[in-house]
Amino acid sequence: MTTLGTPLSPHATKVMLLGSGELGKEVLIALQRLGVETIAVDRYDNAPGQQVAHHARTITMSDPAQLKALIEAERPHLVVPEIEAIATPMLEELEAAGTVRVIPTARAARLTMDREGIRVLAAETLGLPTSPYKFCNSLEELQAAIDGGIGYPCIVKPVMSSSGKGQSKIDGPDDVKKAWDYAMAGGRVSHGRVIVEGFIDFDYEITQLTVRAVGADGQITTSFCDPIGHVQVSGDYVESWQPHPMHPAALEKSRQIAKAVTDNLGGQGLFGVELFVKGQEVWFSEVSPRPHDTGLVTLCTQHQSEFELHARAILGLPVDTSLRNPGASAVIYGGVEAQGIVFDGVEEALRVPGSDLRLFGKPESFVKRRMGVALARAENVDTARANAKLAASKVRPRVA
Ligand SMILES: Nc1ncnc2c1ncn2[C@@H]1O[C@H](COP(=O)(O)OP(=O)(O)OP(=O)(O)O)[C@@H](O)[C@H]1O
Ligand SMILES: [Mg+2]
Repeated sequence: MTTLGTPLSPHATKVMLLGSGELGKEVLIALQRLGVETIAVDRYDNAPGQQVAHHARTITMSDPAQLKALIEAERPHLVVPEIEAIATPMLEELEAAGTVRVIPTARAARLTMDREGIRVLAAETLGLPTSPYKFCNSLEELQAAIDGGIGYPCIVKPVMSSSGKGQSKIDGPDDVKKAWDYAMAGGRVSHGRVIVEGFIDFDYEITQLTVRAVGADGQITTSFCDPIGHVQVSGDYVESWQPHPMHPAALEKSRQIAKAVTDNLGGQGLFGVELFVKGQEVWFSEVSPRPHDTGLVTLCTQHQSEFELHARAILGLPVDTSLRNPGASAVIYGGVEAQGIVFDGVEEALRVPGSDLRLFGKPESFVKRRMGVALARAENVDTARANAKLAASKVRPRVA
């Protein structure tokens, strides 16, 4: 049974978000609506989620000492990781000591912050279909892995990176050194380890949002959202839509894979399971134990967005994953490098039928930084995609 308190009182239900970007901001808003007291943590001041939380804290979350000191000082009921770059072994320690509950579990946060942890679990422990892969510590090992069976084309990624950083495709022997150097420059922590994966020539890729929440019988129940289709450019999502039509057999396999991996990771909350599909064949790619960027589309498609689902699931409340209407999202990049930018064209964007907008309020813009997203609901996905892209194109970020 869940009892919720009153924020800023001795009986508050307190939740701490580790990472307070655009996804965390929406989770925080969903928690605020349930009267939860929220603490938004990020590595820089005025991060999007810090602007809507009761408390804002700025620390280096990858530093175990800083993380421990903050959690012990604030004593939240739940700690909700929103990013991967966190001192997860410290979270495991605090969880084991009973200091705090980590969402979905500290082990899930540790395994998924690193491509090696989750890939070995999925492919070797669970026996799920994945691309062929090898981990390499040097250019020589990379070349040997390719020659020894991975072949061309293949993809190289730093073991610790996200949003496509340091990731590149190798089409032939001439690209190998370039890909290694690029990975070394783009990893989150400078330890020289990469994964090389055989290239999967998929028809399409989806995110299968999967929720582990307490059901009416008091047991953890798994439920699925409609599949989300998306387009990635250089490993970063630019467009997503829901529902993505799928052959029933491919959908069934996708959900079996999603269930297997989320059952193993355990805990309560929403997961974004990334899958590649070709005909009726499905490969597991990776999983986020938290709302997924491509799932921003659910803000305009579901009765409960992925953020509301996450908030409810972690609090032990019932969830409803049903679709309300088709829709799409299109990313708005900064396009400029500046602080405190302004956005022209917002009213034109909102005149596009069925459109909506999220401007994240990030204090600093970079050319390729995601600063907002356009949403569009429609009768069908094709119209929604066209309208989301149209609305996004109307928003023109510029130096103030
Ligand atoms: N083995 C592969 N074969 C074909 N395409 C791939 C492969 N691995 C990755 N990709 C493409 O690159 C995209 C990004 O890869 P991946 O999800 O592993 O990186 P990421 O940095 O974790 O991205 P994000 O954090 O945005 O999810 C995938 O969504 C897919 O489009
Ligand atoms: Mg991914």
